[in-house]
Amino acid sequence: MSVLILAGSSRTESLNRKLQQRIADVAEADGRACYVYAAEELDAPIYNGDDEQENGVPSNTQKLATAISDATKIVIVTPEYNSSIPALLKNAIDWTTRLEQNPWVGKNVLLAGASPGRLGAMRAMTHLMVVMGAVQSWVAPMFLSCPQASAQAINNLDEEQIRAFLRQGD
Ligand SMILES: Cc1cc2nc3c(=O)[nH]c(=O)nc-3n(C[C@H](O)[C@H](O)[C@H](O)COP(=O)(O)O)c2cc1C
Repeated sequence: MSVLILAGSSRTESLNRKLQQRIADVAEADGRACYVYAAEELDAPIYNGDDEQENGVPSNTQKLATAISDATKIVIVTPEYNSSIPALLKNAIDWTTRLEQNPWVGKNVLLAGASPGRLGAMRAMTHLMVVMGAVQSWVAPMFLSCPQASAQAINNLDEEQIRAFLRQGD
């Protein structure tokens, strides 16, 4: 059982990066092997069909696809930009579906998100749920949201709530 944890912001002080780490800390304390994937590694040119024909799929997309294939469960921690998914994350997902084998098929995917706003990235997670369904993943029904997020709010998230979130799809 291994959990791949992706986050959709490469900002140094990213709240979603902090939430990614908090989830990993709880998962590891419960004996789950985690792969905390660096958001920088999701970075790829914005998908363009001509670029794909000329240069193929970026090498980091293959690395991401291998990490997805190796995981038994995948947590995606998403920021919210204008009520939706940040381009970094959507673009990385789009590229993975251009590989010969779509690595997302049949995977258990759990969605989390943090934002300083009162809705805690819920709208981004709702959009991401639709995208993950389109790539044929199973999306767990319970989202982990941190509204009015700060380093402290993320630290204060209830540990039992994170455990229950992580148990989905066991
Ligand atoms: C272009 C842009 C749009 C944003 N739109 C929203 C939004 O719709 N809802 C929200 O709660 N926060 C929104 N925010 C604020 C982000 O939630 C906040 O910057 C957050 O810290 C980004 O995640 P990060 O800390 O992981 O980088 C937006 C930020 C940017 C830069």
